[in-house]
Amino acid sequence: MSTFYMPARVFEEEGAVLNHAGDLAAMGRKALLVTGRRSARANGSYDDVVKALESKGVSHVLFDEIEENPSTHTIMKARDFGVSEGVDFVIGIGGGSPMDAAKAISLMICHKGEGVDYLYRAGADDSVLPIVCVPTTCGTGSEVTPVSVLTIPEKQTKKSIPFKIFADLALIDGRYLASCSPRVLHNTAFDALTHLIESYLNSKASDYSRMCVDAGLRVWSRSLPVIRGERTAGPEDYANMMRASMMAGMAIAHTATTLPHGLSYSVTTKLHVPHGKATAYFTAGYLSEAPEKARSYLLQTAGFTDLADFRTVYHRACGEIEAEEGLLKEVLQGAVEELSSNPVKLGLAPFPVDREKLEKIAFYELTHA
Ligand SMILES: [Fe+2]
Repeated sequence: MSTFYMPARVFEEEGAVLNHAGDLAAMGRKALLVTGRRSARANGSYDDVVKALESKGVSHVLFDEIEENPSTHTIMKARDFGVSEGVDFVIGIGGGSPMDAAKAISLMICHKGEGVDYLYRAGADDSVLPIVCVPTTCGTGSEVTPVSVLTIPEKQTKKSIPFKIFADLALIDGRYLASCSPRVLHNTAFDALTHLIESYLNSKASDYSRMCVDAGLRVWSRSLPVIRGERTAGPEDYANMMRASMMAGMAIAHTATTLPHGLSYSVTTKLHVPHGKATAYFTAGYLSEAPEKARSYLLQTAGFTDLADFRTVYHRACGEIEAEEGLLKEVLQGAVEELSSNPVKLGLAPFPVDREKLEKIAFYELTHA
């Protein structure tokens, strides 16, 4: 059986937030705006949301303390704030961190008597307040996925919460990318690409999920010249990057991510490597294990000539992992150990994965330097 389910209403256009102020206002009477410390203000998205809400007489409060890779502690702090303010919907504005956080905060506001352990209580009631997502980076696709990845400080790792929480409304405007640094743009664009690749090379892939992958790869390829440094980005590139990220989100909403994402989490938490840079670090290794036909299709549809071209562009665009080799090896080995004990994630690879194969993928960049 194949299923296609994507309940978020998506509006993608220049001026999306203001153009859809009515849809935004229909979500409730008082909004909790969830952002990081700076970027939502710098790129204009926060001002647009405030303007749209105020034009419709909807009140709002701001929680702007979402850090990169938000911790469960931050979610609880925002939950307490939201409950004390009596909010009835949540708007996540920013990259994956504020949007993932908005989903978890919405869940916890609905379960205001529960403690932090509720976030990982599989099978518990998943009622949430309405959620709106306004993405301002082009990687996560969180605006159309049911995923919320949080950092568990006590375990020093990142993990998806076991609830499937979709936004009700996604308002997408490529102009918010214009103030991103090239590094953030590149890292997040590679995150989107890894979503497309991992969704395709996935035991849960179907014609429906691959429909999103195929369209996503073609849209992604249009901005490859920007990532290659052949020209500077323009409005059309920003729109394409946002669209590719969203299509990649729709793809992983149906399949989940697989080995590169599974290996990346410890690299991010232990070496502070940005998410997209960390997932793409394992992508060449993952692709090298795929059947030749699938590998060529994925690379060429995205605009690369071959695996070597992919690696050259990746290293130039995202930079190297700055860690002493001994430490990097230790972290990679730890990532292998952690993923080895996650049969669900391992089972998402479309080929059998034993310890040896996982090590080959994890250490691919080091052994092919
Ligand atoms: Fe990702």
